Amino acid sequence: MSIILVQGYHLLKGEIEIQGSKNAVLPMMAAAVLHKGTTVLEHVPGIQDVFCMMGILESMGCACALDGHRLTVTAPDLSDIRIPEKNGKAMRSSIMLLGALLGRCGEALVHYPGGCSIGSRPIDLHLSALKQMGVEFSEEGDLIHARTGKLRGGQISLPYPSVGATENILLAAAAAEGATVLKGAAMEPEVESLCRMLQAMGVNIQGAGTGEIRVEGGAELHDAAWDVPGDRIVSGTYLSAVMAAGGEAVLKRSSPGHLENVIRTMERMGAEIRVRGGDMEIKSKGRPAAVSVETGPYPGFPTDLQSMMLALLALGQGKGRLKETVFEGRFATAKELHKMGADIIIEEKEAFVTGGRSLRGTQVQARDLRGGAALVVAGLAAEGTTRITDCRHIFRGYEDICRDLSSLGADIRREG
Ligand code: EPZ
Repeated sequence: MSIILVQGYHLLKGEIEIQGSKNAVLPMMAAAVLHKGTTVLEHVPGIQDVFCMMGILESMGCACALDGHRLTVTAPDLSDIRIPEKNGKAMRSSIMLLGALLGRCGEALVHYPGGCSIGSRPIDLHLSALKQMGVEFSEEGDLIHARTGKLRGGQISLPYPSVGATENILLAAAAAEGATVLKGAAMEPEVESLCRMLQAMGVNIQGAGTGEIRVEGGAELHDAAWDVPGDRIVSGTYLSAVMAAGGEAVLKRSSPGHLENVIRTMERMGAEIRVRGGDMEIKSKGRPAAVSVETGPYPGFPTDLQSMMLALLALGQGKGRLKETVFEGRFATAKELHKMGADIIIEEKEAFVTGGRSLRGTQVQARDLRGGAALVVAGLAAEGTTRITDCRHIFRGYEDICRDLSSLGADIRREG
């Protein structure tokens, strides 16, 4: 039983350091498979998805050692090219090992990662790009067998800036023969940090962080140590928490440079946010002002903070609007917020939210990772106690949301 209890109406005040980024560290762990030696990652978050990825790497013959927030991966020789089904199903990001295994061994056995509660999440863009690089696929049920005699670099264009497809292509391109020019690449900061790490390992990459990335394949890789950036989505979650509960906080190592759109939006809603190097200071009081927000690929408003925005608009004053353009099923949390008294109408890709009401604590269910975190945010500003069930979703991406928010003065604890 993974339950979180939140007692509303406690102002927040204090300082916390933000954990390393889940969506940055997972592709970095996949990149370590490309190299026969040792890769060291610092600021690795202690989250379920990291432990799951470590299990997959170890099942393939890698040695993984997590000492605090330092992860050391050594991969002298791989004993298996198969991603265990249970891990693959438990964590979609395991699909990123496809590119790494093809780069390292020329073969991979993976299961279709399957959809989840936010959408069908196909991998057609991954597969079509890898086919252009000389990969052949055969399928038996939901098992995909990928093979290549030789990965070939080339000109690849993505019709949609898929983060995972971009990362898989980069990982394969690092080991391919010749140069790969990827157009229409995702520009998320996590893609850029993967590029920086690959460069540190010896890969010649131009255009990191832009929509056109050139990779010279076939370089001899060497040992490298790399820093996982602060998790911008966890930062945005805690900014939302201060806006919901009221108060002030300093978020250390919080990647403000990757949250410009979010900071501007929150300032429009009435928050005062100051950036100091890699830290942010936020002050907020009263109900957030209503805004109209549309999610989109970076540098647009991140879809991963859409659910938090839903909670803030429900608490806010006036009529707000949220358009979700990235995932087709990411409004599941609205139903849970309704139970707390929120006035949210969903019409296809849009949510129309009428604020001005007080939310009341009740029992709600976390439907997905970020939706669960949004229920915590709503609970901070709800009357009474909010009991959130199925919090295993939250533990996949938040190292310890109760520890963090308690240190800011929230009355929040885990039960069971
Ligand atoms: C990454 O998922 C993140 N996960 C997601 O964070 C994030 O929401 C998403 O990027 C968008 O920013 C990790 O990095 C581990 P996409 P990914 O490929 O790579 C469609 C979280 O909460 N698509 O950019 O799966 C897809 O269905 C998670 O931390 C295809 O149609 O995202 C979706 O509608 C949730 N075909 C859209 O593109 C494909 O082959 C964006 O997907 C691939 C994607």
